Amino acid sequence: MQHSTILGIESSCDDTAAAVWRNGKILANITAGQKVHEEFGGVVPELASRAHQSNIVPVVEMAIQKSGIQVNDIDAIAVTLGPGLVGSLLVGMNMAKGMAIALNKPLIGIDHLQAHIAALYIENPEPAFPLLTLLVSGGHTQLVLVHDFMHMQIVGNTIDDAAGEAFDKAAKLLNLGYPGGPLIDKAASTGDDKAFEFPDAKVPDLNMSFSGIKTSLLYFLRNHPEYATERLNDVCASYQYSIVRYLIKKAQSAVLQYKPASIGLVGGVSANSKLRAEFLKLGEKHQIPAMIPAFEYCTDNAAMIATAGSFLLKQNVQSPISVLPFSRHGR
Ligand code: KG4
Ligand code: ZN
Repeated sequence: MQHSTILGIESSCDDTAAAVWRNGKILANITAGQKVHEEFGGVVPELASRAHQSNIVPVVEMAIQKSGIQVNDIDAIAVTLGPGLVGSLLVGMNMAKGMAIALNKPLIGIDHLQAHIAALYIENPEPAFPLLTLLVSGGHTQLVLVHDFMHMQIVGNTIDDAAGEAFDKAAKLLNLGYPGGPLIDKAASTGDDKAFEFPDAKVPDLNMSFSGIKTSLLYFLRNHPEYATERLNDVCASYQYSIVRYLIKKAQSAVLQYKPASIGLVGGVSANSKLRAEFLKLGEKHQIPAMIPAFEYCTDNAAMIATAGSFLLKQNVQSPISVLPFSRHGR
């Protein structure tokens, strides 16, 4: 067991988050959302940076206070470098840099996507490898083969939108609000998922596409505008099921191809109730352990950043104080 205390900071999109990891346990995990974007139906980058600026100090203070540690107990500060909104990333990074300088402790820059995968280790510190993860968030959709935390291989990727975007854009078309995923999930819970058919995109190998399904919903609602209200729950359930079925189909192809020892579902969309249920069934069908993080570790959070930091600290990987944010890589 590694004996150290890591402060994690995350501010890549519209959640300001801080967490304390100590000797393999999360002592505090604080996330402040930003309601300011709701009326715009999506994240407004400039408003996000400003909200991070007002939230960052109280969120970090609250995490330290709740964890019961003293600021001097911190051995390293892990912070998201990207991918994300540059103005938002800078707020978290500047806070982390200031603390690293003041406390004279290492700064550890974290890749947000690898951190989503690290979320699996919080409750399963020793997963069986190779671990195949389905990473589904608001900006990315990937199948990643994890050999260990330091060695990951992307084996499938979306060629256009992310699965989370397909949820968010559909919610906008249905006038449900933002973020769309949880709203569609809720409406779908009382709908019939076989009521309507939204076709899969035919993309070869383990790659995926989600722009077509959103367009098919757009045309469907043009032809039947009354369904957006009269059959809302059935539309949401059918649309959600089409996305879930497609993701599971691709994950199953990856399981057959790579024969992993375990599978994991991560990223904001892993909070989706239908996807969680179908992912567990996939594990049962192939008789491999299937892991899904607790809800608080699915959507953006700093516990996953601190956990990712623990792996890098163990390998003595640090970032220079001059390190810059990055906005995107791959998709
Ligand atoms: O990982 P995340 O919090 O942020 C990014 O890194 O992008 O993912 C946010 C995405 C959004 O698209 C949101 O609509 C989606 O996760 N999401 C869901 C659910 N909860 C969050 N999608 C479907 N069902 C949910 N219950
Ligand atoms: Zn994320």
